[in-house]
Amino acid sequence: MEMKRWIMMLVASMFMVATYGATTSQQLSLIPLPKSVEMGDGEFVFGKKLTVMVTPVAEELFADFSKEFSASTGLIVKYTRKSNKAQVELHCVPSMAPEAYRLKVTSSKIEICAAEPAGFYYALQTLKQLLPRNVMAGVADPTVTEWSIPCVEIEDEPRFAWRGFMLDEGRHFFGKEAVKRVIDVMAAYKMNRFHWHLSEDQGWRIEIKKYPKLTEIGAWRDSKGLGYGNVKPDTERYGGFYTQDDIREIVAYAKSRFVEIVPEIDIPGHSQAAVASYPEFLACDPQNPHEVWKWQGVSTDVINVANPKAVQFAKDVIDELTELFPFGYIHLGGDECPVVKWKQNEDCKAQLAAIGSQNFRDLQINFYRQLVDHIKQKPVEKQRKLIFWNEILYGNTSMLPNDITVMAWVGADRAAIEAAKRGMTTILSPQIPYYINRKQSPLPTEPMSQGHGTESVKAVYSYVPMKDVPEELQSKYMGVQANFWTEWVVEESVVQYLMLPRLAAVAEAGWTPQSKRNYDDFIRRLQAESKYYQMKGVNYAKHVMK
Ligand code: ACM
Repeated sequence: MEMKRWIMMLVASMFMVATYGATTSQQLSLIPLPKSVEMGDGEFVFGKKLTVMVTPVAEELFADFSKEFSASTGLIVKYTRKSNKAQVELHCVPSMAPEAYRLKVTSSKIEICAAEPAGFYYALQTLKQLLPRNVMAGVADPTVTEWSIPCVEIEDEPRFAWRGFMLDEGRHFFGKEAVKRVIDVMAAYKMNRFHWHLSEDQGWRIEIKKYPKLTEIGAWRDSKGLGYGNVKPDTERYGGFYTQDDIREIVAYAKSRFVEIVPEIDIPGHSQAAVASYPEFLACDPQNPHEVWKWQGVSTDVINVANPKAVQFAKDVIDELTELFPFGYIHLGGDECPVVKWKQNEDCKAQLAAIGSQNFRDLQINFYRQLVDHIKQKPVEKQRKLIFWNEILYGNTSMLPNDITVMAWVGADRAAIEAAKRGMTTILSPQIPYYINRKQSPLPTEPMSQGHGTESVKAVYSYVPMKDVPEELQSKYMGVQANFWTEWVVEESVVQYLMLPRLAAVAEAGWTPQSKRNYDDFIRRLQAESKYYQMKGVNYAKHVMK
């Protein structure tokens, strides 16, 4: 008897393990991992037709979703106004947070609740990840003949409001289609801020109507590759830029995927391409020749901030950016700005004395102060908040309002705390390990890339944002961002290789509660992404996949 009971218990527990194993969230491959996942029993099996009841707030985005869904599954979407006829129901619940959603799948119904389009969009991204990955890629897969998803109840919302990725197109230019593919992948991982680094010493990449030479001259250089040490510049004429129509197209493309674009014009440092375009008022030494730079590194050929025409130039550029980019933020760079030319320039020295400082960094801050004043004079809907790299903290930032944001990259954790203490908001984009242009393995096949370090997927995943930050400062932390610098990277396929799958690791840090994050589980879920990348036609680091 005792033996029989023992066997029964064993069988029961084996059954429980099997059931648990088959239905736990461990089996789903969702990235980023939602805040809460509860598995149910059974599955929802799609018929040839899917009947959907949509709430007005989600109508437009559901129409986009259903086109893609039908194209990739062959299933037909029909609309109904009657709940008892609907297999999918979208409900507006205004009390929910803007990006939050609930997704409940039973064997007879898929129910989605959210307050705003973004929430519905993220619910649908999750729904796609419950399906075979060709749906996320938006392409048909003839090998899939049956469509079903497990019964599950998901409650989800992001940890951080800012989940960003920066692409440097100043060093190398990849073009519209490449940028759209980046945005697609960001959106798949629920990332929502594309930081577009559009100017550098080595190239100016955005048409500015008032200053046509920025793209006639500044967008082109006499070397495709950039010189570095013993690697000399080649002689290939190279460049490219986005017209204002291109920009509007990409902004709209991103917006429909709930990605806002933050343009960066890096001034007054990293500006040699602009200086080469208009040396007569941007150069500290206009009498000397200036060309778009062909080398890597940080050029000393910075904008003469003491020239009123240079200040006017920056204001005019901001005016055109404001018209092109409706999002509330503009990034003005501010990193790595050598002051050697200011030290040699009489106007700069006089201006430094006039502002009562001996710190040349304050000339930079004073330049920004004038730009802030210009922006504050605009009507409210045209005002933009400014973001800077964390080097601005080396100057007297009390000249600036504290509604600016510091993007923390070098000594990021300390810099972010300092910014928050000064009352500013901050975004964590630590060079180590969030510069995902750096090598991601010691393999000899790894491409050349900027920076000497190796940031494995594990290193990227293991970074803990906002660790040990005093509670009273935590509200200043807007979120996280991965950055991609392209000194060495000429081809889109190499951008993709280095970006993927590390971008997914950063996306999860931005979305998932820290207490739920687990590297081994992430790697398990990541395995499904091979199929997504392959079907999407993007390159990725295959060594991370088992
Ligand atoms: C930077 O990496 N120079 C922001």
